[in-house]
Amino acid sequence: MGVGKRASLLAISWLLAASAVTPAVADAPLEEVTTARAQRQLDARIRRLLAQMTPEEKAAQLLTAAGMNIANAPDHDTRARSGVGSIFFVSKPAEINRLQKLALDNSRLKIPILFGYDVLHGLKTVFPVPIGLAASWDPELIEQTQAAAAGEARGVGIGWVFGPMLDVTRDPRWGRIVEGPGEDPYLASAIARAQVRGLQGPQLGTPGRVVAGAKHFAGYGAGSGGRDYDEANVSDAELWNVYLPPFRAAIDAGAGNVMAAYMPLNGIPAAGNHWLLNDVLRGQLGFKGWVVSDNQAVRNLLTHGFARDRSDAAERALNAGTDMEMATGLSNFQELPASLSAGRISGKRLNEAVARVLAVKFRLGLFDHPYVDEKAASDGLASRESLDLAVRAAERSAVLLRNENGLLPLDRTKIHSIAVIGPLGGSTRDPAGPWVFAENEPVLQSLADGLRQNVANGIEVSYAPGVTMPRRLIGSPIEMMDRQYSRPAPADDDSGIAQATALARSSDVAILVLGEGQNMIGEMGSRSSLDLPGRQQDLLDSVLATGKPVVVVLMNGRPLTLRGNLPPAILELWYPGSQGGTALSRLLFGDAVPGGKLPYTWPRSAGQIPTFYAHLTTHDPKGSERRYWDDPSSPVYPFGFGLSYTTFSYKAVQLDHSTIRPGASLTTSVQVTNSGPRAGDEVVQLYLHQRSGSSARPVRELKGFRRIHLDAGETRTVSFEISPEQLRYWNAAARDWMIDNSTFDVAIGTDSMAPFSASFNVER
Ligand code: BGC
Repeated sequence: MGVGKRASLLAISWLLAASAVTPAVADAPLEEVTTARAQRQLDARIRRLLAQMTPEEKAAQLLTAAGMNIANAPDHDTRARSGVGSIFFVSKPAEINRLQKLALDNSRLKIPILFGYDVLHGLKTVFPVPIGLAASWDPELIEQTQAAAAGEARGVGIGWVFGPMLDVTRDPRWGRIVEGPGEDPYLASAIARAQVRGLQGPQLGTPGRVVAGAKHFAGYGAGSGGRDYDEANVSDAELWNVYLPPFRAAIDAGAGNVMAAYMPLNGIPAAGNHWLLNDVLRGQLGFKGWVVSDNQAVRNLLTHGFARDRSDAAERALNAGTDMEMATGLSNFQELPASLSAGRISGKRLNEAVARVLAVKFRLGLFDHPYVDEKAASDGLASRESLDLAVRAAERSAVLLRNENGLLPLDRTKIHSIAVIGPLGGSTRDPAGPWVFAENEPVLQSLADGLRQNVANGIEVSYAPGVTMPRRLIGSPIEMMDRQYSRPAPADDDSGIAQATALARSSDVAILVLGEGQNMIGEMGSRSSLDLPGRQQDLLDSVLATGKPVVVVLMNGRPLTLRGNLPPAILELWYPGSQGGTALSRLLFGDAVPGGKLPYTWPRSAGQIPTFYAHLTTHDPKGSERRYWDDPSSPVYPFGFGLSYTTFSYKAVQLDHSTIRPGASLTTSVQVTNSGPRAGDEVVQLYLHQRSGSSARPVRELKGFRRIHLDAGETRTVSFEISPEQLRYWNAAARDWMIDNSTFDVAIGTDSMAPFSASFNVER
């Protein structure tokens, strides 16, 4: 029995132990017997229920529905009474209990409802957006934030969250880059594991945790032109080497759910893609949980010109491997009973899907504990501990991009007045980022307020917005219409800029907060340009012209183009969450030292996209800097880049073997010294380059990293194991995993520009 299988059986045994009796059996390996018994008990309970269910009741279990006042769609109460499997977008414990009671009192079989919700980076305590957390390069921290988010979600009665979002993307025009792990499959996989562990705990069914839904399977980050929902055409090699690894990692960590993506992958819509959901997801990646479609994605099988009608859509989705439909309007899966009678779906497949949904409800303990304690739920929200974690997470996500003449950290003894400037600097909602909902009353803090509350007495903090954020509305159909015919933002006159500039002039330092409103990024938040929206660039130019020290704080989810003169200091803060201002104050004055690194390449302009560090070497590599005649090909900042208030030096890379056989491992190590004046964190990054082989391989690939803390002057040896897992890749011609005989170059350093300084051979 594999370790994974054993762990999942253990999980079931733990769960059933809470409700049923699991006696020990003498003289037998306890773990095996009890876990096998637990599995049998679970299977038997599911079988008993299935045997009582009508096809209509089964189809109802295969729906997660949100009542959004859509014409002709049943409301939540009707759905609950009729035994719906899941409801999403409800997060008030009293409402969850009320709906649960309706289901348990009125539906024939009294199967509890599973409540789902988009909890991507917190519920009431908001942590930095996922791309920000990715920049921490700190899986342990990411696990902690997701555990805290899971605790709040489970407390209010949400058992399933629609995350982690694991779409690798190399196109920052795509708005959803903010929800994901960035451009690199190795970093993304480490983050995927951490997120699943945080959300679910060591096993599915851990008290106070939820079921994690890895999404969007698969290739959504490769949508054409960075346009949301557009088709993704992904080569075989890219699919296996770039887009699938984080999903594999999430599944290995036990993710209970996977969400099929919206878009067609190489022409086949994901929710109806049998090869993707069966051969790949279940066959190759070994997924055992249940697959949900993205919202309306079953209905979309018609939109794509794939299905003939609603029944055809439902049948093809189910037959392809979609177990549950997510829908805000009418359910297509309610056509399934008729499809069953007509023999177009099999009873076996229907039962299989229902069994998967019932299994998760058993494993979460919902049959035994369907209700939540409303008082405990509200007491458990936004605890001091989780707010402190939000401060720490925002600090560790921050990336210092520029710091001329050591402008940062600021010296408290020399600063008496700070001007916070920019529309995002005074906003309370924007720092929380997307996927944060007013109904959860998230803890919000503007950067200006956070600074006011945290800088030392005697330092005055003033605020001027300078310009307005252009309008950008999305979400409801009405808002979408508004956007379609969107009026340009009311033009800013120069008076706001003049006022903000005057404030900068009269202050000791200007903290200029620039970026994008939180609703300009995320779903339907793609852009064709990376320029600062509105008149923020004019504001920047004007404030810079004062000659005052200027720190630009970026609040954004994608790289942005800054034109003209650059400010002396740039601190990437992302959408930092509930405690961004507190974290910013600590970062500015050196109580916290930035140690984050970019999880993506930062292009010069949108014209360079896609640009990513792990590209192939091709014709005329020396000329690769001038692939465009009008601009260098290199980025502004490379992947993995980030400065500190201290400096780090690296000493010769060591290897314990110069030659290994395929299938063997070796260890590489390096000495890292904090060569600067203060303690700080460094993210030590290992890159490999394969010189030759049966496929051309990228110029380098991240294959290891570790965030370490070093005191001033301290030296540490950091070692990485290089195992077959890091050497293999998917060869598109052989359609198989390969480890080639080759020489591999090794670079260990501070970012993806670290020089190669050692090599080893793999020889048969
Ligand atoms: C998004 C998903 C999300 C779902 C439910 C969809 O539009 O693509 O990521 O989980 O809505 O909100």
